Amino acid sequence: MQAKSFQLFPEAASSIAGQVDALYAFMVLISAFFSLIIAFLIIFFAIKYRHRPGIKPTFKPADDHSIGGMVLEIVWTAIPLAISMVMFVWGVSIYFTESRPPADSMEIYVTGKQWMWKVQHMEGAREINELHIPINRNIKLTMTSEDVLHDFFIPAFRTKADVLPGKYTTEWFRPTQTGAFHIFCAEYCGTKHSGMIGTVYVMNEADYTVWLAAGSGEGSIAEQGQSLFNQLGCGNCHYSNVNNGIGRGPNLNGLYGSKVDLKDGTSVKADESYIRESVLNPQAKIVAGFDDYMPTFKGQISDEGMLKLIAYVKSLGLKYGAPNTATPGTVSTSATAPTAGRPAAKAATSVSATPVAGNK
Ligand code: CUA
Repeated sequence: MQAKSFQLFPEAASSIAGQVDALYAFMVLISAFFSLIIAFLIIFFAIKYRHRPGIKPTFKPADDHSIGGMVLEIVWTAIPLAISMVMFVWGVSIYFTESRPPADSMEIYVTGKQWMWKVQHMEGAREINELHIPINRNIKLTMTSEDVLHDFFIPAFRTKADVLPGKYTTEWFRPTQTGAFHIFCAEYCGTKHSGMIGTVYVMNEADYTVWLAAGSGEGSIAEQGQSLFNQLGCGNCHYSNVNNGIGRGPNLNGLYGSKVDLKDGTSVKADESYIRESVLNPQAKIVAGFDDYMPTFKGQISDEGMLKLIAYVKSLGLKYGAPNTATPGTVSTSATAPTAGRPAAKAATSVSATPVAGNK
């Protein structure tokens, strides 16, 4: 599969592409219509009222300044207003559709850096300047940058979004055609900006499953996040399944997507950017009922590591004690127990007590 080298107009390969093209065509036709009418009238009047020898102009500028007609003014204000409002409302509806990923979207992480795109699938597969996705599935990209502002653009899907350092942006689409399509960086980001390109491969479901399995040797991204979580000692304070989940830091089960009440009385939605900030700048938002214990992990975690940690926290989908029925990629939440000395010891005691009781 090779992306086509030159095309005047990209293929329409996503569910939204037809709508974007229709709006675009409407705007081009309106512009063309008025451009032609104006050009025609300029030429027509220039010829009709051209200067002829022997004819004196009858126009008296001083008398004609205030000529106007209320009806005419209203008409040529109202018509353009109506036309531009059609464009506005139409554009807004497409914009809203494009900026709200459906809840059933498959998630993929994208990291931009000068000058490449790094892609991380939840199941573990990684790729550079390539993006393999299945056809007819809603795909949501969560994106960040390691350095400067980039913009992830897939012309064939008619969608793009800025990729910013230090925060997460999203972009979603549903591919409707198999094949290979261009990825461009659509924001000038340095000398090799034009080389920051890639290819998205849209595969049928069966091919995709095979492809994904081949690249998932390192385990799912949530599992990798869990190792990082343990490695950094996060579990020393953030208990999950021990001690009722109460440690020096807040319990992270069910955190993602929930509303968090903060010490200062405000609240915040626990999204990717909040989790990231809480790791790198823990003092920024202290959770109600907790103290300012946590040190910053700035400089200890790469952007890719951060995505893994976030994936792990997301996989802790449920509150403490609830049955574990979270989405694929979910990992056991009990792995932090060994690092949490006191509660783990307590649990061990109660287990060993049972045989003793049985002996009596
Ligand atoms: Cu990255 Cu332009």
